[in-house]
Parts: sequence; C-alpha cells; structure tokens
Amino acid sequence: MSQPHSGPSGGVLIVDFGAQYCQLIARRVRELGVYSRITVPERALFTFEHMRPDAVILSGGPRSVYEHDAPQLDAAILQKGVPVLGICYGLQWLAQHSGGLVTPAQSGAEYGRTELEVTDAADLLAGCRQRGIVWMSHGDKVAKLGPGFLVLAKSEPCPFAVVGDRARRFFGLQFHPEVAHTEDGAIMLKNFVLGIAKCRTDWNPGNIVDNKVAAVKKLVGHDGEVVMGLSGGVDSSVAAVIIHRAIGDRLHCVFVDNGLLRAGERDGVERLFREEHHMDLRVVDASDRFLDELRGVTDPERKRKIIGRIFIEVFRQEAKRCRKAHFLGQGTLYPDVIESVAAHGGATSTIKSHHNVGGLPEDLDMTLVEPLRDLFKDEARAIGRTMGLPASLVDRQPFPGPGLAVRCLGEVTREKLVPLRAADKIVREEIEAKGLHKGLWQYFAVHVPQKTVGVKGDARVYEDICVLRVVSSQDAMTADWELLPVDVLKRISNRILNEVKGFSRVCLDVSSKPPATIEWE
Ligand code: XMP
Repeated sequence: MSQPHSGPSGGVLIVDFGAQYCQLIARRVRELGVYSRITVPERALFTFEHMRPDAVILSGGPRSVYEHDAPQLDAAILQKGVPVLGICYGLQWLAQHSGGLVTPAQSGAEYGRTELEVTDAADLLAGCRQRGIVWMSHGDKVAKLGPGFLVLAKSEPCPFAVVGDRARRFFGLQFHPEVAHTEDGAIMLKNFVLGIAKCRTDWNPGNIVDNKVAAVKKLVGHDGEVVMGLSGGVDSSVAAVIIHRAIGDRLHCVFVDNGLLRAGERDGVERLFREEHHMDLRVVDASDRFLDELRGVTDPERKRKIIGRIFIEVFRQEAKRCRKAHFLGQGTLYPDVIESVAAHGGATSTIKSHHNVGGLPEDLDMTLVEPLRDLFKDEARAIGRTMGLPASLVDRQPFPGPGLAVRCLGEVTREKLVPLRAADKIVREEIEAKGLHKGLWQYFAVHVPQKTVGVKGDARVYEDICVLRVVSSQDAMTADWELLPVDVLKRISNRILNEVKGFSRVCLDVSSKPPATIEWE
C-alpha cells in the first residue's frame, strides 16, 4: 500500500536507488521525530514538488552509476537549495553530477567492517569519534571530487569516505550510517537531519497513525470493504485498529479458533475487539476440524502444513461471505516483506520457512491493505499504544501460527492440550506477576509425551514431562536461554506439579538458538 500525497510537508525525501537498507534509513529518520517518505528515482522530482522536503537523502543501490542503464535521478533536484546526503551509490551519483568521477574500485573495494578516520569534525561529523568503525559495502569508488567538495573522513582504501560541499550543503558517505554496525551512524544522520537541514521534530506515533488512516481511506475508497484475519497478536491487531479507524464497519474481522490457542485467548480477542472497539468480528470455531485432521499425525512439518491449509480453507470460506469485500487486510511488517521477498528468490538471504497465519494466497483475488508494511515491530507496538490498545496486547510475546501444536510433541490430542494449556497459563502468570516478561522474548511450556515415575499423595503416578522454555532475543533469528530467579522457578514448578494433572516432572530447557530453535517442533 503506497502512502498518499496527503502527508505533511517538510521532512526528508529519501530516494531509493534499490538499497537493501532503504527502510532502515526511513526508520532512523523517524527515530529522530522527523517525517520522511521514500520514493523511486523516476518520481523523485514530482514527489519533491508535492512534499517540499527540508532535505533529500539518496540511498545506496546495487548498480554502478557509470552503467548506461543505472538508476538515474533528474539532476534538477540539486538546484532546489535543500541539503542532500548521498549514501554509497547516492554519494557516487552526487559526485558524478557535481563534476567528480566514479570508477570501479579495484583496490578500493570494501565490504563490511572498516575503520574510519575523521579529518574534519565540523557539522556532519560533529561528536563522532576520531577513529570509529563503519560498515562499508561498495565495489565502486569516487576517484575525483567535483569543485567545492572537501574530504571530511577517509578509510585505508577509500580516500573519499566522507565528503562535503558546505556552501551547497551537499554531503556524501561511502558507507552505511543507518546500520547498527556503523558506530556513529546515528550521530551522522542526526547531524544531517537536525543540524544541517534543521528538520522539524514533530513526527510521532500519533501522526503516523493519522497518515496510515488517511492512506487506508484513500486506497479503500468510499464504499470498499475489507476482510481480515485477526489472530490476537500485535501485528494483526494494530493493523485492524488502523483500518477500523479509517473505514469503520466496512472492516470485517475473522478470528479462527483452531483449538490450538492458549487459555483465555479467544475470550480476550472477543472482549477487546467486539466489546471495546466495536468491530465487526466473526469468531469461527473450527477446532474440531483442525484436531480431527491432526489425529495420528506426528511429523512436525506435516502438522504445520495441515494447520496452514485448513486455516486458509476456513478463512477463504468466511471471506466469501463478505461478497462485497475486495480488499484483504493484513498485519504484514517490514521484516516480513524482506523475508517473503527472499522466499520468492530476492536478494535478501535470510529465509524462515514458517507458516504465518496472515500469509494468504494471492489467488483470493483481493487487493492487500497492509498499513504496517513499512514499519518495524517496535514501531507497530508504539502505534498500538497510541491508539489505546492495552499493554497486555501490545507487549505480548510472539505466538506461532500453528499454536500449541508445535509445543505438544508428537500427536496433538485434546487430552494432551489440557495440561499443556494449564501449565502455560501458570508460566505466564508467574513471570508476568513479577514483571520479568519485559526482558524476555518468549516464555512457555512444552508437553513432552514421555512418561516418568512420580508420587502424588502417597500414590505412584506415571505421567508426562513439562518443559519450561524461556528465551531472550532481538529478532528470533538467534536466541539465548534465560534463567529465571530460583523462587520464581520454584513457584512455577510447584504449581504445575500440584495444580496440573498429567505432568509428574518439570524440566528446564537450557539450549540456545542456534543450534536449537525456540519452538520444539
Ligand atoms: P523458531 O522455533 O524457528 O521460531 O526458533 C522463531 C520465532 O518464530 C515463531 N514461530 C512462528 N511464527 N508461524 C509464526 O507466525 C509459525 O509457523 C512459527 N513457527 C515459529 C516462534 O514462536 C519464534 O518466535
């Protein structure tokens, strides 16, 4: 879903030359409280006229500026009198259009970690360490600077690592300030956006919401209808509330109870969205169908596939009921976009093979409405808070699309789900009561169908194992196990062994990812 031209004026116009990190540049600008928009080079001048930005950032890109079909920008943008910051390819384009020369790097190619030596620490590099680490990724280099440009910093193989023409307020960085590996990258961007361009710092989750709501209104029109699967997770919930704010009861939400939910989940979703947010929410109880089809299935991948397929079938049936709905709402976040591009053969190489309940097939023949598509998870959370969603929802831990099925090892049965659900509730209650969840990525119980001997009230019991999985992580790609305080562990263990029938033993999972995954299946 593209943003309309109804955004505010001012801010930063980011020209995307095909960069891997373009959304990250936008995110860094948002973190400074400044409005930004990304545009493709061909539309840059047009967007400039509508937006009247205070500054332009030219992104990196995979091509070489001297190739005849390399992405080009109308050089008239350099006559507008606003500061320009070129990053990597953006610097090379800027150099080429300011009387400089760009050539293949040969000896000057740099990839990854490089030491930068600051030689002129005014304006753009003010406050940066004299020798810091930056993240390079370029095969071309600026061989000669145009008139008016000075060198502000260099690296061993790259004499023009940071350059600037102070009179025209044009600057260039041969490396990526937007990535976390560049030590003072955030300072450089701040110096450019706030110090040099003097952008207003009035962009916050509140007006991001207004902007998204306006975009949904524009896309869906006056009488369009949207159907959407609501899982009760952060992403679909925040997206649904934005769409609802835009089009009210022309949004139709569907919540599929697959019988694999945690205790209280379905009731919580109904209460919040139907009673508090007054949304049109249809709850479909398909638990029998899911559990029947899972009968006898023990292979984890088969379990996932079955659950994914039934979800799509149930949702498709429900979507057909809303005959007038030509739009499909989804809570897709920017990292999901990167992953799905990668999954379809794009350049980004990290691929998760997870089934995401939001990921419906395109042959539903509906236009996607994805208001969070250019945002990151923490930004979706901030927006959710602004719109009044409760902390219990906004800060909740991720829950996998296949639900408790991937924590109920082997065959999933109603009988095994009962103790698992009860133990999981205890784990959540005890951790949340102490506020420990704030530093954790996920915390849950796993049902291991291996009988061990125990004694309960003078009688011998022979029951299954409950495993406690508690991990910290930044993005779920890697994770570490976390040790809860001993008194909390004792309470959890005592409560599970006393209150839950079906477990005779509680064990702790002390495995990091990799090599273990977070979920057990
Ligand atoms: P793993 O087990 O691969 O999980 O370390 C990484 C993160 O992804 C979640 N997860 C899923 N999420 N559909 C989802 O939407 C899935 O099929 C799925 N499988 C795992 C998991 O909870 C963890 O946060």
